[in-house]
Amino acid sequence: MSVTSKYNRIAPIYELIDLPLELLFFRRWRKEALSGLSGRVLEVGVGTGRNLKCYPVGCSITGIDYSERMLEKAREKARGMKNVTLLLMDAEHLEFPDNSFDYVVTTFVLCSIPDPVRALKEMRRVLKPSGEIIAIEYVHSSNHLIARFEDLINPVTCSLIGDNTNRKTVENIERPDLPLRK
Ligand SMILES: C[S@@+](CC[C@H](N)C(=O)[O-])C[C@H]1O[C@@H](n2cnc3c(N)ncnc32)[C@H](O)[C@@H]1O
Repeated sequence: MSVTSKYNRIAPIYELIDLPLELLFFRRWRKEALSGLSGRVLEVGVGTGRNLKCYPVGCSITGIDYSERMLEKAREKARGMKNVTLLLMDAEHLEFPDNSFDYVVTTFVLCSIPDPVRALKEMRRVLKPSGEIIAIEYVHSSNHLIARFEDLINPVTCSLIGDNTNRKTVENIERPDLPLRK
């Protein structure tokens, strides 16, 4: 089953699945990471739109996702927010010109995109030279015991919700063929 089909299937209960983590940690991290942004923002894998209320009013936000059911939830949250545009789009093939955005935001997305390196290349392409990528992501732990646990649960999270919790996301972001543009 494709990642998109998995997210279409779990969209109605997506926010319940990790509610304890959301309340304990994620909500605070989202606010801290996004409260200082301004200008044109692209959110990749916007999901149910959990981040939308964390952006300052001055931001013009374009949110993309490849799951129509997840986007429906985001559209409910974005109702009345004139600075938000939501589009069905593949992160690996972004339909924007080069140098379009001041910020690209991903939260818990690079673990689920089938080819995260290709998506990161696309994010760099659409980012202005002065722009920044803001990422809050699951990563393969440097702690040996936690890493083993991640390896253990990865087949389950992968088959249920398409999340690879043990990807080397930091290394992917820092790859030399994906030069940081700032
Ligand atoms: C774990 S959810 C995270 C949603 C949201 N960013 C959050 O913080 O709650 C991952 C999201 O990435 C989306 N996604 C996966 N692959 C994608 C792709 N190739 N293009 C766009 N979105 C994708 C899924 O549909 C899903 O909505």
